[in-house]
Amino acid sequence: CGIVGFVGKKKASKILVEGLSKLEYRGYDSAGVAVMQDGAIAVRKCKGRLANLAEKLEEDPVNGTIGIGHTRWATHGEPSDVNSHPHTSNNAEISVVHNGIIENYIKLREKLESKGYAFYSQTDTEVIPNLIDYYYEGDILAAVRKATTKMEGSYAIGVLCKDDPGKLIAVRKDSPLIVGLGEGEYFIASDIPAVLNHTRDVYLLNDNEFVEMTLDGVNLYNEDGEKIEKDVYHVTWDANAAEKGGYEDFMIKEIHEQPKAIKDTMTSRIMAGQDICLDKITLTKEQLENIDKIYIVACGTAYHAGLVGKMAIEKLARIPVEVDIASEFRYRDPIITDKTMIIVVSQSGETADTLAVLRDGKKKGARVLAITNVVGSSVSREADDVFYTWAGPEIAVASTKAYVTQLVAVYTVALYLADLRGTLSKDEIEEIKKEMLTLPEKAEKLLSDVSEIQKFASKAYGEKDMFFLGRGFDYAVSLEGSLKLKEISYIHSEAYAGGELKHGPIALIEDGTVVIATLTQEALLDKMISNIREVVTRGAKVLGIAFEGSTKVEQVCDEVIYIPRTLELLAPVLSIMPHQLIAYYVAKQKGCDVDKPRNLAKSVTVE
Ligand code: G6P
Repeated sequence: CGIVGFVGKKKASKILVEGLSKLEYRGYDSAGVAVMQDGAIAVRKCKGRLANLAEKLEEDPVNGTIGIGHTRWATHGEPSDVNSHPHTSNNAEISVVHNGIIENYIKLREKLESKGYAFYSQTDTEVIPNLIDYYYEGDILAAVRKATTKMEGSYAIGVLCKDDPGKLIAVRKDSPLIVGLGEGEYFIASDIPAVLNHTRDVYLLNDNEFVEMTLDGVNLYNEDGEKIEKDVYHVTWDANAAEKGGYEDFMIKEIHEQPKAIKDTMTSRIMAGQDICLDKITLTKEQLENIDKIYIVACGTAYHAGLVGKMAIEKLARIPVEVDIASEFRYRDPIITDKTMIIVVSQSGETADTLAVLRDGKKKGARVLAITNVVGSSVSREADDVFYTWAGPEIAVASTKAYVTQLVAVYTVALYLADLRGTLSKDEIEEIKKEMLTLPEKAEKLLSDVSEIQKFASKAYGEKDMFFLGRGFDYAVSLEGSLKLKEISYIHSEAYAGGELKHGPIALIEDGTVVIATLTQEALLDKMISNIREVVTRGAKVLGIAFEGSTKVEQVCDEVIYIPRTLELLAPVLSIMPHQLIAYYVAKQKGCDVDKPRNLAKSVTVE
């Protein structure tokens, strides 16, 4: 979910809706605003996209200048008008927007019911305004503080109180929240883009920091109610970077931004003839000698980048690496000691499960390195070491440019570790670095002609199922390619390791089944060709993705898309791009909303 808030002299509803439009990637099942108007709290909210709310506000405007807004990604309670935020207390005194999950909401609801409060939605959030109301004795900040001591789980909340109409209160715990500082106007938001049209000066809030906002300014308090000071963070990146810039959708724009994103991520880190420079990683040779195991933990696409990271680190730095899904890892009682290193990978830096792994790992003595795209995000602030992927803001829900920069990050970290451990010679490291530096140009070339892929998409978009095949690095890429396709085109797809096919999935291959095979690993080429023959014999139509000059592949594939040649180790950076484009053009052919696929959210800050 995404929340915003505004205190100023302009019409709040307009500013809130505009802010929410920058947060729609956080969820878009429903949206709403609450605005102080004529001594009361006026609420407008509805199911569906933000456009529905904007329409509602046209028909039934609210004119106040202080308000809160919300765009929802359903967790507790289906998307509906009544489950939309803001939620208001029974007596219409307190209104709240909330991002996160209140884990003990049933207990709190029962307690409040016993005090005479009634509940109308299925959400966990509805307990918050009533709980605040229950503790309210004339000081809204004190009531919010008291209420939060009873709330378990995660929350970023914005609160309005009818009795104190000039004030907005906010607080966060385990959910992101920033404060925007304008000229005589102030904002809260889940993420920076929501305020960038108004200000570049923000406070990055930590857990349990309370905000009291009026026309006179912003006061910050700790959980004991003591006033605190905070540095102002000045945002330097361009607001336009978050706009579509001439492309039809954010996703295709972001696909085409990959050469730049790769280049930016290497800037000042990978330079020919110079040592790798990772200024936010302070790991020493002695500390590394103490490390006997690395876990890479992440969710979704970032997990797929982790699979490549495992292979790269094991190959180059010769340290055992396990990769796991954050929501699995945290509950499987993994063996973590002070000899463990955990690498968490997260585009947003806010994914709840990934953050939980980081915190738990640190508690158990592990050294945690975060690979993230968002400066100042929770994982970046809490990890021991940070590697920022400089992909720029990624808006499309399906990750593309963030993924390739995560790949660059894991390769760079692998080389860095190999250098510290001495498992590669300086010359070997130099050779890989030199090749990495050619990747932006090769990616540019690959993306400059998408006609073959468009042709394929125009034939394949009617398929019900597709299969992806690969071995080694190509298997990791196949998993990501399959995820892209299902996320945005809703075509069922599965990725299999080439050798695993005959252990079950081959039963699903029938006449005309589309198979996309990636073949960039020379040592595995003949094995893959045999696997492809196995599906061709059963009627499959095969599209191969291979390096230029690898013409052997044509013997078995119906069509081949060639990509520029690079080191096999680095192939994923390029071989993923045809996959992304296939997913994109297939989804477009089907008329899907590629930037906002159904049921998905960009940033999952709940478990
Ligand atoms: C969501 C997004 C995915 C993303 C995953 C992990 O499911 O839709 O694109 O890969 O979260 O997000 P993170 O921000 O931690 O990389």
